Amino acid sequence: MMKKLTAYQYLLKDKLSGDKNRELIALLKDIKLAARLVSKELRNAGLNKILGEYKKLTNIHGEKVTKLDIVANNLFINSLENGGNCAGVVSEELEKIVIFNNEVSKNSKYLVLMDPLDGSSNIDVNVPVGTIFSIFKKSSIKKSTNIKDFIQKGNRQVAAGYIMYGSSTIYVLTVGKGVDAFTLDPVVQEFYLSHKNIKIPKSGRSYSVNQGNFYEFPIALQEYIRWCEQEDAKSGRPYSLRYVGSMVADIHRSILKGGLFIYSKSKRAASGKLRLMYECNPMAFIVEQAGGLAIDGDKRILDIAPKSIHQKSPIFIGSSEMVKLISKFIKSKQFD
Ligand code: AHG
Repeated sequence: MMKKLTAYQYLLKDKLSGDKNRELIALLKDIKLAARLVSKELRNAGLNKILGEYKKLTNIHGEKVTKLDIVANNLFINSLENGGNCAGVVSEELEKIVIFNNEVSKNSKYLVLMDPLDGSSNIDVNVPVGTIFSIFKKSSIKKSTNIKDFIQKGNRQVAAGYIMYGSSTIYVLTVGKGVDAFTLDPVVQEFYLSHKNIKIPKSGRSYSVNQGNFYEFPIALQEYIRWCEQEDAKSGRPYSLRYVGSMVADIHRSILKGGLFIYSKSKRAASGKLRLMYECNPMAFIVEQAGGLAIDGDKRILDIAPKSIHQKSPIFIGSSEMVKLISKFIKSKQFD
């Protein structure tokens, strides 16, 4: 039987060999440790009575905060601070950046931007949720960390990943050399390599969008959706509509099976809902590394020059041919 490789062994041997990568490997280990703990909390949430909303609190985006949002946020922040391999963090749950000032962390060159628990409104109904993260290097490690260090284009990410807490816990990662996935063995609590060099199919037969917003969408998107619904033997239409409402789960399915995930601007939300720095950027990096594409309707997500850490962006992401086609619809029709 072939020896199973842990995420750590695989990165060390294959994707991040050499001494210069040790700090990044250690940082990824801190993230993995927190992910293991979050996975455990989620599995026991119903029994430990930590489901539901947290004191009727809303986050800076006006969304309800669940108890598990807080638990996940704290577990990640603690693990990153204790690990000493990153200088600061942006979290969806915190309005301001967190800077680690202990002797080890403050000399680190890495920064983490994360959504500790994406799709958390799905937790109470036992639907998959996830963690999404993005890693950048500081432009200079000599200066103390400030908010400007975080405001970088997505094309400068050094690593990005997501952890999907589903029927199994899967950790999908890119360090800019393709995409791999590791599955948590719940008995030994170790992530093992399960999907090597993942490639997203060029096209798929499903699209993923909150179709309840149909009449709020720009005309170009309404027409694309109508096109997906039409019968056409050659292209295999009608396509299937698949929408979990957890970005991690919807994109994970599109990566493995082929498909298109859409969170558009609409009449009510001029920039959509999803956050550029810790949702769209990391997912765009992963999907591009797997051979897919990600645009905001006009340009490549990874080329957007950010203005603030919590800004939102529309996103069309997935199989390359599907993204190219929706881009044609957008260019040829009204998209306001
Ligand atoms: P939340 O964490 O508040 O549950 O939001 C989840 C995000 C994302 O994961 C998902 O794709 C999207 O919001 C769903 O939004 P809609 O409910 O508007 O479709």
